[in-house]
Amino acid sequence: MSVKHTIKYGAALLAVCVGMAASSGVALAKKKEFKPLNEAEFEQAKSMYFQRCAGCHGVLRKGATGKNLEPKPNKAKKTKGTLKLGTKRLEKIITLGTEGGMNNFDDIFSKEEINLLARYIQMEPPVPPEMSLALMKERHKVFVQPKDYPSKPMHGRNWQNFFIAIERDKGSIAIIDGDKKEVIAHIPTGYAVHVLKTVEHHNTLKAKDPGRFWYIMGRDGMMTKIDLWANPDKMKVAQVQVAYDARDVAVSGDGKYVIGGGYWPPHFVIAYSKTMETL
Ligand code: HEC
Repeated sequence: MSVKHTIKYGAALLAVCVGMAASSGVALAKKKEFKPLNEAEFEQAKSMYFQRCAGCHGVLRKGATGKNLEPKPNKAKKTKGTLKLGTKRLEKIITLGTEGGMNNFDDIFSKEEINLLARYIQMEPPVPPEMSLALMKERHKVFVQPKDYPSKPMHGRNWQNFFIAIERDKGSIAIIDGDKKEVIAHIPTGYAVHVLKTVEHHNTLKAKDPGRFWYIMGRDGMMTKIDLWANPDKMKVAQVQVAYDARDVAVSGDGKYVIGGGYWPPHFVIAYSKTMETL
């Protein structure tokens, strides 16, 4: 077998031939190119995966915007499985990205970290714990206290003609003044922002200042509250992580309740009374 073949098939062979490993131990050990992570490496890779990959590939690696990344082939999703792709190929994909929409990570992770990730995704995905209310409270940050919210717009701009643009891969949003055609702020919101919602009038529930507060939900479950009346450096008023894998956020017509929805924890629904002020 050539070196190339050894690299390509070594890991897959290892997976299907575990039972034979004892008998052909030495020969197989030479071919082995995928070294399972030790406990500390696994924890490090798990955290990198949750922060940077889970948003597109799913917490359980079943695929979402990105492909299924389970070790074994998945016919329905038309994937070969990460074991078959092997460490070298996986490192290359993670380093350089692909034309099909996978971004490059060589500017975010070191070579060693990319190697850890490439080996990590060949191992069975760990099932993440439910996110407890205690952990959500721990990850709740208030940058401007509700009592300090301005009582009128502070910047003299026509905030009702502001645009908000998602800067997904940078992990931020941009606030654009539509009258003056100026970008007035880039606000960090967490990685892979998915949707933006605001408080708006419904038939029965009337909001005080519709369009003023915006809720941004990232695929990583990070939710950010923005106040368009504030000066750009004070627009981000609060942030909380409510899930590991989220897709949507909804706000009640009176602005009193915010609800997030997503994949993990499964079908989570979190309601905040008084819009993130009391969580
Ligand atoms: C912004 C979304 C996005 C993020 C974030 C992302 N990926 Fe991807 N990934 C994709 C898409 C889309 C594809 C399919 C690309 C194609 O078909 O060319 C893909 C493909 C892949 C593949 C190839 C799978 C196959 O079967 O061919 C691997 C491996 C992979 N991603 C690993 C990762 C890892 C590891 C991370 C985190 C460091 C990551 N991705 C983060 C979108 C993403």
